[in-house]
Amino acid sequence: MGLMKGVVLAGGTGSRLFPLTKITNKHLLPIYDKPMIYYPIQTLVDAGIRDILVVTGGKNAGDFLRLLANGKQFGLAHIDYTYQEGEGGIADALRLAEHFADGKKLCVVLGDNIIEGNIRDAVDAFRLQERGARILLKEVPDAERFGVAELDGDRVVHIEEKPPHPKSNYAVTGIYMYDGTVFEKVERLVPSRRGELEITDVNNAYIDEGTMTFSFLDGWWTDAGTFESLLRAGNLVAGTRRTPECDEPEAALADLVERQ
Ligand code: DAU
Repeated sequence: MGLMKGVVLAGGTGSRLFPLTKITNKHLLPIYDKPMIYYPIQTLVDAGIRDILVVTGGKNAGDFLRLLANGKQFGLAHIDYTYQEGEGGIADALRLAEHFADGKKLCVVLGDNIIEGNIRDAVDAFRLQERGARILLKEVPDAERFGVAELDGDRVVHIEEKPPHPKSNYAVTGIYMYDGTVFEKVERLVPSRRGELEITDVNNAYIDEGTMTFSFLDGWWTDAGTFESLLRAGNLVAGTRRTPECDEPEAALADLVERQ
C-alpha cells in the first residue's frame, strides 16, 4: 500500500457565519466539545494518514499553530501548515498543497465536514487504485446545497455544483482523494460565476478522463458552514458522545464497573 498524505482545507472567510467569524476563523468555532478543525484532522488520522497539511488563511492563521502545534493530541509527530491569500475557492486552497504532496496521493478533507464513522475502506480502496480520483457520496434530502453526482450504474457521469434542480439525492461530500495529476487539473481551471476555483470542476476533469471512482459514506455527515448546519453538527456529535446513563442507568453502571 502506497503512502498517502492528508490535507485539511480551512481557508475562506466563513461569511455565512458572520458575526461568529468576525474575530475568529470558522474552523476554530466549537462543535460540541472540540474546535471544528479537530474533526477533519481526526478523520484523516483514523484512516491511517499521518502526514497532514493544514491550509488556512485570513486574520487568525496563527491561532491554528497555537491550537494544534505538532499534533500531539492526535498522536502525530508533526503538522504542516500553509497560508491561502484571499479566498479564491477550494481548488485555489488545494493548489497550495502541491509542494507538500510531492507527487504522492492525497486525501483532502474540507475543514467544515464532520462525519460519524470513518473513511478507512475508501482510503484503502484508493491506495489500491492505480490512478485517478475517488469521491465519497452521501444521500441527502437537500442536495441543492452541495455538489450533486449524477450516477449511471456504478459510474459517476457528471457533478453539478449546487443545482437548483438536482438530478439525484447524492451529495458529493467534502472528502476527496486525488493522484498527483490533480495540480495540472487545477492549473487549467477558470473561476466560476461566484469567482472561485471550484473543486467540482476538478472532479469533472477526472470524470471526463474516465478515472473517477466513488464510495458511499457510512454514518451521518454534515457540513458546518451555516447557522443551521453548525448547530446540527454540534447536536450530532453530542449524540455520539452521550453515555448510556441518560436513558439506561443500569447499562451505565455496568459500563462503569467494567471500566474500573
Ligand atoms: O461540504 C461539501 C460541499 O463543499 C460540496 O458538496 C461542494 O461541492 C463544495 O463546493 C463545497 O461547497 P460549499 O460552498 O459549502 O463550500 P465552502 O465555500 O463553504 O467551503 C468549504 C470549506 O472549504 C471551508 O470550510 C474551508 C475550505 N475553503 C473554502 C474556500 C471558499 C478554503 O480553504 N478556501 C476557500 O477559498
